[in-house]
Amino acid sequence: MIELDIFTLFPAAFAWFEAQRHVSNATAAGALGLHYINYRDHTPLSAGQVDDTPFGGGAGMVLRVDVVEAALRARYQSDPVELRARRRVIALTPGGRLLDDALVSELAAEAELTLLCGRYEGFDERVLEHLVSDRVSIGRYVLAGGELAAMVLCDALVRKLPGALGDERSALEESFSEALDGGPEYPHYTRPAEHRGWRVPEVLLSGHHARIREWRMEQTRLRAQASEQR
Ligand SMILES: C[S@@+](CC[C@H](N)C(=O)[O-])C[C@H]1O[C@@H](n2cnc3c(N)ncnc32)[C@H](O)[C@@H]1O
Repeated sequence: MIELDIFTLFPAAFAWFEAQRHVSNATAAGALGLHYINYRDHTPLSAGQVDDTPFGGGAGMVLRVDVVEAALRARYQSDPVELRARRRVIALTPGGRLLDDALVSELAAEAELTLLCGRYEGFDERVLEHLVSDRVSIGRYVLAGGELAAMVLCDALVRKLPGALGDERSALEESFSEALDGGPEYPHYTRPAEHRGWRVPEVLLSGHHARIREWRMEQTRLRAQASEQR
């Protein structure tokens, strides 16, 4: 069971994500709890203000540290500075640790997680310095907000939870998993066995399980080598 608390200015953005089959499966199986906390609901400032202009000038607005702290304090009823010692509080930020399968597995093993979605120019740096335990990036590019990044992280994580997938074996032998020595997955084919002269590799039609396994592992090795050379 994992409880995910997502801090965001746009909780409604997650409606599509929640409707996805693996997410609703995991929730129904009792393996997942999703909770949304809107920074704006807890801001100590008037008129729902959550951001401010950057000191030193420059474009855009910055998500205020006192606003993020107030939202964390309201949710956990404790000092957020101490919170991060007993719970992983993750800021989604472009410059953070790159999300990969190993990190997803690590996070999926936690009982509870907090995800902070940024907006505008991002978080006041003191959020990252004092209120979070981890900074995670989904890639070296910039999105308009942390909501899509949080959904990417949650989507990958939920696939690893019991009850999320129709067949749990699907998550065991996938690209970058230990079962494939961290390599990309081998190719898949289905009917028809031939289309426009494009034939499915004979070995997959042979019914010979040991040879099929050998072929698949070889394909994974070749793909791993090819991606190293790119
Ligand atoms: C427009 S971005 C801020 C970008 C920031 N000014 C910079 O140049 O690094 C607003 C928010 O979107 C989220 N975000 C954008 N790109 C992301 C990425 N690649 N990975 C994780 N979060 C991202 C973060 O929460 C960030 O605070």
